[in-house]
Amino acid sequence: MTRKPEISERDFADCPDRRGTGSEKWDRWQDRDLLPLWVADMDFRSPECVLDAIRARVDHGVFGYTHEPPGFAPALADHLAARHDWQIEPEWVVGTPGVVTALATTARLLAAADDEILTFTPVYPPFLFLPGLAGTRCLRVPLAQEAKRWAIDWDAVRAAITPNTKLFWLCHPHNPTGTVFERSDLVRLADIAEDRGLTVVSDEIWCDLLLDQDRRHVPFASLDHPAARRAITLLAPSKTWNLAGLGCAAAIVPEARLRRDWRAAGGGLVPMVNPLGYAAAEAAWRQGEPWRLRLLDVVRRHCKRVVEVVAEIPGLSCVPPQATYLVWIDCRGTGIANPQQACEAAGLGPSDGREFGAPGFIRLNVACPADRLEEALRRLQRAFA
Ligand SMILES: Cc1ncc(COP(=O)(O)O)c(C=O)c1O
Repeated sequence: MTRKPEISERDFADCPDRRGTGSEKWDRWQDRDLLPLWVADMDFRSPECVLDAIRARVDHGVFGYTHEPPGFAPALADHLAARHDWQIEPEWVVGTPGVVTALATTARLLAAADDEILTFTPVYPPFLFLPGLAGTRCLRVPLAQEAKRWAIDWDAVRAAITPNTKLFWLCHPHNPTGTVFERSDLVRLADIAEDRGLTVVSDEIWCDLLLDQDRRHVPFASLDHPAARRAITLLAPSKTWNLAGLGCAAAIVPEARLRRDWRAAGGGLVPMVNPLGYAAAEAAWRQGEPWRLRLLDVVRRHCKRVVEVVAEIPGLSCVPPQATYLVWIDCRGTGIANPQQACEAAGLGPSDGREFGAPGFIRLNVACPADRLEEALRRLQRAFA
């Protein structure tokens, strides 16, 4: 009989030591007593159902060139239908080794030299630097920081668009602010995209990590709108089930012409997805739901705890995230010019807001065991004491 281990709180408390495994997160400050709460992966082991699928694929023993296995697209389609009420055709799904790679591909596919790609800031750093690498330009529209949310300045969006603006790169839910855009926001964006001839590329890698139990993620491309039917959606199981190192993501590209040109747009630089990544992704989408729900309990608790501690530190503030396992902290009220440096001096390694286009901010990744988070919060207090 197959073993079916229960998911327990211990899965989120006893974590393997990642030092010496080539972990980007843990190697950055490896010679210092510094807790790394920066890059967006988790210190938790992936769920047993995913590990079993990888083991089964390893047991097969042959790892030749692999395109999307037959179960991959249907697993994603069923997941999107069940979780996000979005019906897609499995043939729209293109496997890609990463969402960042896929973003870069859309710039090459849909924009020419000196065209512009619009995005909301602050934002996950590749949104800012990939356009330049593709010979295009990044146009930034800042989100407006309010007490309880980050809001869109629609006049600024309209004013920013020029005849050269071809793409809107949407990060939804939004990293680093944790904003889950409302359906009404998405419709407004779709109206503008249609009016001004923009293609929306929606990076929805965080869509399975909504913290607010009353909110639903609305995929941009699920809107009943012409701009939604042309949109490209980027997804991966990597954030939710901690699989980033396996390099497996998906682009949902309804237009056949764009799917046909997708691989060529990679310019010979993009490898095929590896077969273990496909096996893990399929298992995560098909069987990962119980683990995801337990993870969400942990992440909700951890985010709440960070928000409480931030509120107690003079000069710090944050809008509680609606999604992700990231807390975006405004340190400008402390008068400290370089909060990243202050944190590192206190033994804490967050992400530096400057990389997201927002000096004076830091981003904390709470996806670690509770005792490690408590130690990190003591260090945060020390940094700004
Ligand atoms: C919004 C967003 N997109 C993409 C990625 C990375 O995706 P991938 O590892 O598939 O390139 C991240 C990682 O943090 C992210 O936050």
